Amino acid sequence: MCFLLMMFFAKAQLLATTFGVDGDNGLLNIPSNESLAHCSSSCGNVSGISYPFGIGPGCFRRGFELTCNNTAQPPTLYIGSTHTRVIAIYSESDFGLDIPLIGFNVTMRPNVHTYIRSWKSPAKGFIIGNWSILYVVGCGVEVYLLDHHTNETMGSCMTLCSNDLDMMEKQAGGNCNGIGCCTINTTRELQGFQLRFFLQDANITQQFEWMQYTKAFLTYDDSYVFSTRDLVSGWINESSIDGTTTLYGNIMDQPNCQSASLNNATYACSGNAECWDADNGGYYCYCPDANPNGNPYAPYVCTDGT
Ligand SMILES: *[C@@H]1O[C@H](CO)[C@@H](O)[C@H](O)[C@H]1NC(C)=O
Ligand SMILES: *[C@@H]1O[C@H](CO)[C@@H](O)[C@H](O)[C@H]1NC(C)=O
Ligand SMILES: *[C@@H]1O[C@H](CO)[C@@H](O)[C@H](O)[C@H]1NC(C)=O
Ligand SMILES: *[C@@H]1O[C@H](CO)[C@@H](O)[C@H](O)[C@H]1NC(C)=O
Ligand SMILES: *[C@@H]1O[C@H](CO)[C@@H](O)[C@H](O)[C@H]1NC(C)=O
Ligand SMILES: *[C@@H]1O[C@H](CO)[C@@H](O)[C@H](O)[C@H]1NC(C)=O
Ligand SMILES: *[C@@H]1O[C@H](CO)[C@@H](O)[C@H](O)[C@H]1NC(C)=O
Ligand SMILES: *[C@@H]1O[C@H](CO)[C@@H](O)[C@H](O)[C@H]1NC(C)=O
Ligand SMILES: *[C@@H]1O[C@H](CO)[C@@H](O)[C@H](O)[C@H]1NC(C)=O
Ligand SMILES: *[C@@H]1O[C@H](CO)[C@@H](O)[C@H](O)[C@H]1NC(C)=O
Repeated sequence: MCFLLMMFFAKAQLLATTFGVDGDNGLLNIPSNESLAHCSSSCGNVSGISYPFGIGPGCFRRGFELTCNNTAQPPTLYIGSTHTRVIAIYSESDFGLDIPLIGFNVTMRPNVHTYIRSWKSPAKGFIIGNWSILYVVGCGVEVYLLDHHTNETMGSCMTLCSNDLDMMEKQAGGNCNGIGCCTINTTRELQGFQLRFFLQDANITQQFEWMQYTKAFLTYDDSYVFSTRDLVSGWINESSIDGTTTLYGNIMDQPNCQSASLNNATYACSGNAECWDADNGGYYCYCPDANPNGNPYAPYVCTDGT
C-alpha cells in the first residue's frame, strides 16, 4: 500500500515536471526558487519577466511560454511560438501583458451594408479582461460586439457625423460620445470577439472620402482622446492609449478552482494565495487583501509588504 502510494506520488511529480505530449510544454508544479534562478527576466527592452511567465525550459508555467528573438535588433519578445509581439509584462497583482493594439480599419462601400471582423486570442490562456473598451471612430455606422465563445452580443453603439468638422470637434470636446466616435464596454472576459458593422446611411460614404473609413480598436482603459483628425486620417493617433491592448493570462490545465485545488500536484496557487475562476474556463491565483504583495504563482507566500 505504502509502496503503491509512493509510486503514484513519484509518477505525479514526474508528470508535473516533464513536458507534455502535444507541444503543450511548461511546468505544472510550483517551481523552487533555485530552479528559477537561471531564468532571464528581460528580453530587449521588456523587463520584469517572472514566473508564471518565462523563457526557456523550466522557466514558465504551461501556457505562459514567451520566446525571445535575440538576433532581432533590439531583441523581440513573443507569446510562445506565435507572431504576437509582447511590449510589456505585468507581474504584480494582475498577471498580464501588452500586445500591439488590436484594431480594425474598415473601408465602407456604398453598396455593402454589413462588414464583419473578428479577433481570436493568439494563445488559449490569454484573454481580454473585464472592463476593456472598444472604440469605434467613423460615420453613420452601428457596431455590435459579440463574444466569440458564446455568440452573445455584449453591446452595441452608433456613431454619427456631420460634414462640419469644426462643429463636431466642439461638440465632442475630446469625448467619445456618439459624435464621430462611440464605445462599447466589455463586461466579461473574452477569448475572442466578432465585430459587426452596419452602414446606416450609404450616401454618407459619397459625401467625403474620409467618411468611408471606420476604425475600431480595443484598449484596457478610457484614456483615448477623440479628435476629428482621427476621422479624416488613415489611422487614429495612438499616443493617448500607448498603442497597446492588455491581455490577461489564466491557468488552463484545469477547468476551475475547485477541480484544480483537488489536484494538489498541479495546483498553481502557492502558499496563502487564493483562487478565482476565469469566465471562459481556467483560473487565476491572487494574493488576498490582507497580504496583497508577492507572487501568488511562485514559491513565496503573499505578504503584507511590511
Ligand atoms: C522598445 O523598443 C521598441 C522597438 O525599438 C520601441 O518601439 C518601444 O517603444 C520600446 N519600448 C520601451 C518601453 O522602451
Ligand atoms: C529573429 O529575428 C531575425 C531578424 O529580424 C529574423 O531574421 C529571424 O527570422 C527571427 N527568428 C525567428 C525564430 O523568428
Ligand atoms: C456561434 O455561431 C457560429 C456561426 O454562426 C456557430 O458555428 C457556433 O456553433 C456558435 N457557437 C455557439 C456557442 O453557439
Ligand atoms: C464604460 O467604462 C467606462 C470606463 O471604465 C465608464 O466610465 C463608463 O461609464 C462605462 N459605460 C457604461 C455604459 O457602462
Ligand atoms: C468579470 O465580470 C463578471 C461579471 O461581472 C464576473 O462574474 C467575473 O467574475 C469577472 N471576472 C474577473 C476575473 O474579474
Ligand atoms: C442619397 O443620395 C441621392 C443622390 O444624392 C439622393 O437622391 C437620395 O435621396 C439620398 N438618399 C438618402 C437616404 O439620403
Ligand atoms: C486604413 O485604410 C485607409 C484606406 O484604405 C488607408 O489609407 C490607411 O493607411 C489604413 N490604415 C492602416 C493603419 O492600415
Ligand atoms: C497625437 O496626439 C498627441 C497628444 O495629443 C499630439 O501631441 C500629437 O501631435 C498627435 N500626433 C498627430 C500626428 O496628430
Ligand atoms: C499538498 O498537500 C499537502 C498536504 O495537505 C500540503 O502540505 C502541501 O502544501 C500541498 N501542496 C500544494 C502545492 O498545495
Ligand atoms: C524565494 O525567494 C523569495 C524572494 O527572494 C523569498 O521571499 C522566499 O522566501 C523564497 N522561497 C523559498 C521557498 O525559498
